Amino acid sequence: MSASPPSSSPALVDESPPPGGAATPSEPRQRLSSVPPPHAAAKAIGKRPRMSRFRRILLGITALCHLPFVVGLAELARRLGAPSLAAWLSATLAGALGVYLFLGRAEKIADDAPRPFLPTFFFDVPYYVHWSACVFCLVPSLVYLVGEPVVDAIRGAPIGPEPGFFMWTYALGLVVCFYGVTFRRWFFVTRRVEIRVPGLDARLDGYRIVHLSDLHIGALTPPWWGKRWIERANRERADAIAVTGDLVTSGVAFHQAIAELVGGLRARDGVFCAMGNHDYFGEGEPLITFIRARGPKVLRNEGVLVERDGARLYIAAIDDTWTRRANLDQALSERPAGVATVLLAHDPGRCSQIAKRGVQLVLSGHTHGGQIAVPFLARWINASKLAHHFHLGVYEEGDSTLYVHPGLGTTGPPIRLGVAPAVVVLTLRAA
Ligand SMILES: [Fe+2]
Repeated sequence: MSASPPSSSPALVDESPPPGGAATPSEPRQRLSSVPPPHAAAKAIGKRPRMSRFRRILLGITALCHLPFVVGLAELARRLGAPSLAAWLSATLAGALGVYLFLGRAEKIADDAPRPFLPTFFFDVPYYVHWSACVFCLVPSLVYLVGEPVVDAIRGAPIGPEPGFFMWTYALGLVVCFYGVTFRRWFFVTRRVEIRVPGLDARLDGYRIVHLSDLHIGALTPPWWGKRWIERANRERADAIAVTGDLVTSGVAFHQAIAELVGGLRARDGVFCAMGNHDYFGEGEPLITFIRARGPKVLRNEGVLVERDGARLYIAAIDDTWTRRANLDQALSERPAGVATVLLAHDPGRCSQIAKRGVQLVLSGHTHGGQIAVPFLARWINASKLAHHFHLGVYEEGDSTLYVHPGLGTTGPPIRLGVAPAVVVLTLRAA
């Protein structure tokens, strides 16, 4: 078995500095990669100019979500015997501190960097448990504030919200969110999926692809955390490994560590990577260079032919759609006629368009399955469903199948509820 670029495929080189240092002036300047320069707007999106506005929105949400916390904490202090004024003052100060502490974390969203273990896991993680618990309180609190007067009016009771409601809701939120930020995020599952691939050569029936996506390595999901996923994937001894982007959380500080992780993946026919939007939240080119230097193929609007005893499979990937680097025509331009195709596309949003091009299997990620979902019903009820048509699991579009990976890491709040991180093992079946 071999995996090789089609004979006329462009060279996979770029101008990024090599690992360990920048190119010297005496070294020959390499041709830019096969990927055309991104649209000017794409570059702008890559630098996230709207981040400050994004942070302001997050800060506003954070402040709003702290209101039930303040009421609940004041009630707790009052029940513990504090005078009412002191209870309210201390709770308000605690709420203000909670909002203030978010400011520093919002900065890190834009430019993630390694942090020492102790402050991260004994300060940041507890803070995010608290922050998530505040968010957890928001919807029940709004429902309560609207519904409670109606219920009291019907019952003929004095109208007025009971502060204990907010106290107990926050307490419940702490328990649930502690589980989501720690245990649910840490423990991953191995999910096995069989997929019918029309046109797959019968000699490739049973071909196994380990699918990883959305690792989001960063301060809150450090490389040692992700190493477990790599080891689990390698134990599968798969025919191929597909990594569908968002290796990065943001910034460039983890590029070398991520390349070492991905470079540690082993599969019979190779490791194939697509880039995601977060990989360009910062300068993405060095990451690509580092990964390629360690063996995995980063496919940017291109593909390779995998061959076994004359049976062939075309594995291709489009570049990131968010930053307008994706070029489906180019990715499929070298596809031999009649060869079943697996296309890696970080964002599943273009699946219908891809299906019309006769691609039999599309592998995506991006949605994380919402990160928060109703347990056991995640496929149908999850947060990403609000924004994505294809949000989790298997979808069929004519003769094409799309698999949307639940992701391994997290973005935004480091929490998962109802959607486990997963190493996915896909077994292709000749239809
Ligand atoms: Fe992601």
